Amino acid sequence: MPLLHHLTTPERFSKQASAVSLPIIMRTTLLTLSIALTACGGSDDSTSTSPNLPVLPDDNSNQETHTHWLPAGGAATINSDVARPFLQIIPKLPSHLLGGVSTGRELFITQWTPANEGRALFDGVGPLFNANACTQCHSDAGRKATYLPNGELSDAILFRLGDKQGIAHHYYGEQLQHQSIDPSIAPEGKMQYTHTTATPDTPAGTKFMFTPADSNQPLGSNAISGRISPQLVGMGLLDLISDADIIAAADPDDHNQDGIRGRVHWVYEGNQQQVGRFGWKAINSSLRTQNANAMSQDMGLTTSVFIEPNCTVNQPICWTAENGGSPEVSDSSLDAVVDFMTALAVPERRIDDLQAFNQGANLFAEVGCASCHTPKQKTGESIRFPLLSQQTIYPYTDLLLHDMGLGLDDGVKEKNAESYEWRTPPLWGIGIVARDPEARFLHDGRARSITEAILWHGGEAEAVKTRFTQLTDAEKENLLRFLHSI
Ligand code: HEC
Ligand code: HEC
Repeated sequence: MPLLHHLTTPERFSKQASAVSLPIIMRTTLLTLSIALTACGGSDDSTSTSPNLPVLPDDNSNQETHTHWLPAGGAATINSDVARPFLQIIPKLPSHLLGGVSTGRELFITQWTPANEGRALFDGVGPLFNANACTQCHSDAGRKATYLPNGELSDAILFRLGDKQGIAHHYYGEQLQHQSIDPSIAPEGKMQYTHTTATPDTPAGTKFMFTPADSNQPLGSNAISGRISPQLVGMGLLDLISDADIIAAADPDDHNQDGIRGRVHWVYEGNQQQVGRFGWKAINSSLRTQNANAMSQDMGLTTSVFIEPNCTVNQPICWTAENGGSPEVSDSSLDAVVDFMTALAVPERRIDDLQAFNQGANLFAEVGCASCHTPKQKTGESIRFPLLSQQTIYPYTDLLLHDMGLGLDDGVKEKNAESYEWRTPPLWGIGIVARDPEARFLHDGRARSITEAILWHGGEAEAVKTRFTQLTDAEKENLLRFLHSI
């Protein structure tokens, strides 16, 4: 049974593509960099505002008193635009880079068509896929609605399938694709959800149910791991943090005995070992691989990085579909998408009371959030985007994997990341995401608020979560206000 065939006519697509607006880029180049914020005095009064805090471990290297804030994303910072906060291009981009960036933007927003429908540059989607445009999952408003009424889910949530040993499903592969280009190739099935009730340890959450299109292909013992689409902020900056800095922050054996043991997700790219950094489990080591992986798994588009269609050996009909070129996305198109992603700006902080903001920042460090959500990082050198070189940035991530406990273990190991390990997600822009009352948090969007997201933290973050719950109401509010401003 064909379940979802959302594709519309080619005419509609070409209209979409021609709607690509270079003026957006031009407009943003006119915006000036936000002014560096300077605090009006010392702010080491945090101890007096937080008498309940337990004594912290000595070695809390991320703790700092804030007297001076540089722009949130260095030279890639943009004034926060309430109407379209994300997917903005960094201001002052040198004009020779605009070509690649605007082509990349076009490839990012276009709705890709199946092979041979007369749009050579934009065809080859499927045969199996989740969505036919990057923007169907990554919108300029941040996160798309995921949990719809009546147990239905939007296209913007993906499902990884597998087990604790890291073995993908023999038929569906590592990711479920619920759409297909043609009724003769059955989509894989349909996912729905129900709510689960709160326990003393965790807030209410969600549970997924799968109905296979082919009843002979049940999930068996495979687990389902839902993945919501994160807001894309300063992707090029995260790509430029040096491997050495990420490796130096890892503490897999907890030598400093602070209970936090981040570890690098070493992944193979070809036969080279690389530091994984993108995705909820950091399975992709570079922006280029991440984008090629999205094209492959989410959209059914082949690239020189992932040259095979996203069909498993047990899906013979899937292999018979016509392709849109080999590969379907050329290296120059892939590079243009990387240019566009690299040019994504960071919305500036929104601070109305600097003293309260500084207190929130101190609480964030004292409670221990900053032990994983590293406030400050530095970029290395970029030859292609020199203005992104050597920038101080505030992404609030260490890009490391952490054991987040049983509550967040959903049974699927990916590459070398265990089922209970997750990469610390960057928190810049999280407050903008949270302005949408429908916004969801954590890898599968089970949390309906930032507070719920914190209460799901376990494993290495258990003690930190407990410290959070022990804050006074006023302190909690201060911490949350801080998170809403970064
Ligand atoms: C069907 C929805 C969907 C589509 C289509 C999609 N993405 Fe994503 N994207 C996601 C999800 C979900 C994640 C997180 C995946 C994970 O970690 O398991 C993600 C992650 C990413 C990330 C990494 C973000 C981070 O913080 O590490 C980038 C970059 C990205 N996508 C770019 C793209 C590009 C470029 C395209 C189009 C070629 C695209 N995506 C298409 C859903 C989608
Ligand atoms: C041990 C490391 C660690 C500590 C300590 C920690 N976090 Fe996290 N945080 C994570 C990881 C890993 C995730 C992603 C978990 C998931 O998606 O299942 C996360 C997720 C989040 C999210 C949701 C992000 C999103 O994109 O949906 C928020 C908000 C957050 N943390 C805030 C905090 C705050 C506030 C504190 C301190 C009270 C804190 N964290 C302490 C590692 C940590």
